[in-house]
Amino acid sequence: MSVKTSLIDIQEYHPRVKYRLLNSLSRMLYDQDDFRHYYWQWKGVEGWLTDAEAYWLFHMAGNQDIKGDIIEIGSAFGRSTTCLAWGARLRNTEKVFAIDPHYGGKGFREQLGEAREKFSSEPGFRRNIKRFDLEEIIIPLVMTSQEARQQWQGSKCRFLFIDGWHTYDAVKHDITAWYDIMLPGGIIACHDYHSDEVRNAIHDSMTELGINPDKLVNPEISTGLVYINIGPASFKTVFNTGSTGKSECRQV
Ligand SMILES: C[S@@+](CC[C@H](N)C(=O)[O-])C[C@H]1O[C@@H](n2cnc3c(N)ncnc32)[C@H](O)[C@@H]1O
Repeated sequence: MSVKTSLIDIQEYHPRVKYRLLNSLSRMLYDQDDFRHYYWQWKGVEGWLTDAEAYWLFHMAGNQDIKGDIIEIGSAFGRSTTCLAWGARLRNTEKVFAIDPHYGGKGFREQLGEAREKFSSEPGFRRNIKRFDLEEIIIPLVMTSQEARQQWQGSKCRFLFIDGWHTYDAVKHDITAWYDIMLPGGIIACHDYHSDEVRNAIHDSMTELGINPDKLVNPEISTGLVYINIGPASFKTVFNTGSTGKSECRQV
């Protein structure tokens, strides 16, 4: 049974079982590419991204049909940044701009207590991109998304991954303020969709920008990752039906 078929067969399973299975299946997919050299080291990078989400980012970064840079809002220790960069490296020409003031995410800062004043994920982030040999591809912008947008003079973007400050206002800013630098056919992926603030911000941003609600897709790899597909689909989906080539993505 091929991996693709297996993925289709588990669509009806209970979500918890399905996500566990998808995680182990995505581990098998790692064996097909460069990821395998780094997998166990990458597993040790602190962060919240699951294996399946990581593989999805890697795949999207490597397989979109359009050319353009990648922007990430919220890198922390580089768990997601490295996946985007490994994908981008397959194409040789593009960069990953990693925007983060490195003071920690909302929930993480609450857990840190008083230690939050001195906390920075920047040293760990820089160590990771060095040890994974990604310094030529990742361009760290140590600032907030708001500051980066004001200063942005870069090119248009084909893939924007939003995983920064998880309040309604911040997520809404991250979508609406960066939207105009997106290429037609680009993708805006957002993490933590299960948070009420994040979910409401995504839906309201789409309404404000006049984006049809059916452009919001859950690729069914986790409850928390969704993406907005801007313009005509111009990428190969991670998991497809094989025989029909039709996407297994579900609208949310
Ligand atoms: C949930 S973590 C990111 C996790 C990371 N994507 C991963 O896969 O491990 C959120 C990050 O957003 C950063 N952040 C907080 N406010 C931000 C802002 N205004 N703009 C950009 N990043 C921000 C935090 O410093 C933190 O590192």
